[in-house]
Amino acid sequence: MNIVDVKNLVKRYGTTLALDHFNMEIERGEVFGLLGPNGSGKTTAINCILQLLTYDKGTIELFGEKMSSTRYDLKRRIGVVPQNVAVFEELTVRENIDYFCGLYVSDAAERRACVNDAIEFVGLQDYAKHRPKKLSGGLLRRLNIACGIAHKPELAFFDEPTVAVDPQSRASILQGITEMNERGTTVVYTSHYMEEVEELCNRIMIMDKGRTLAIGTNAQLKIMTGIGERIEVDVLDLPEAARAKLQGLDSVQSADYDGHVLRITCGNGQHNVSDVLGILRAFDVTPGRIWAEPPTLNDVFLEITGRDLRD
Ligand SMILES: Nc1ncnc2c1ncn2[C@@H]1O[C@H](COP(=O)(O)OP(=O)(O)OP(=O)(O)O)[C@@H](O)[C@H]1O
Ligand SMILES: [Mg+2]
Repeated sequence: MNIVDVKNLVKRYGTTLALDHFNMEIERGEVFGLLGPNGSGKTTAINCILQLLTYDKGTIELFGEKMSSTRYDLKRRIGVVPQNVAVFEELTVRENIDYFCGLYVSDAAERRACVNDAIEFVGLQDYAKHRPKKLSGGLLRRLNIACGIAHKPELAFFDEPTVAVDPQSRASILQGITEMNERGTTVVYTSHYMEEVEELCNRIMIMDKGRTLAIGTNAQLKIMTGIGERIEVDVLDLPEAARAKLQGLDSVQSADYDGHVLRITCGNGQHNVSDVLGILRAFDVTPGRIWAEPPTLNDVFLEITGRDLRD
């Protein structure tokens, strides 16, 4: 059974088509990455799923049941960490978490335990009595997360939780999300940072202009688009015949020699680097520094759309 099942979702803001027959299926236990450039519709998709926005068309099922704005029974099983930090300035860290947790957990003892767990989970023990304005950007993000997940949801949406946080908070946030997932929470994680999504998510959807462009595991996405590694080799002198031979390899998409650097882009292949080195050896070319980079999700996005994720 899919824990999230979205079919043919259409959402317009006036004349802007933000979601264009958008589909999304997520299974229990996944860390599902929703990757897309700014304005691609990630937040809109999440807010429609949560019924925080109305939409023009489509069906949304969560936990196998039809979602609607009055389904509080479903909402209490969901956690949301919104893109924009949403906490109360006049409440302390602990009071903020308690407030949001209290929307779903009415038993006082149970709630106290949940709030304590959440504070520990995001590492805000030393700040429990602070008000939000005293927190740095990273700590504020952690508070935002604690407020969203204190009630121990089965399904949690994180909308760009690491924007504008320092590397240490960022690592701690990613680690926390992984632990939550290990304890059984299904996670939907949106970002336009491909490195995060690559590291964290077992399945990734790349979206743009309100539509799904590709979906699969990290490895599947790369195989799908047929891109392999990028190889650079420092060579003092490269005969044109050697370059042409490299270019002629089945797995090589392009081989350019310029200013003592040989740049090669490969397709899928198991032996790309050794094939290239084999040819250089055959032409008696001694390579200097060799550098090979596996394809990134940005390469996948570039291949599909012709532009960078962060354009
Ligand atoms: N309240 C709104 N009113 C009008 N247009 C909106 C509104 N919210 C979003 N949009 C538009 O809808 C499209 C999708 O926006 P959305 O915020 O869902 O994208 P996103 O992928 O979350 O982007 P980001 O990475 O910047 O958070 C964009 O074209 C955006 O300008
Ligand atoms: Mg967004």
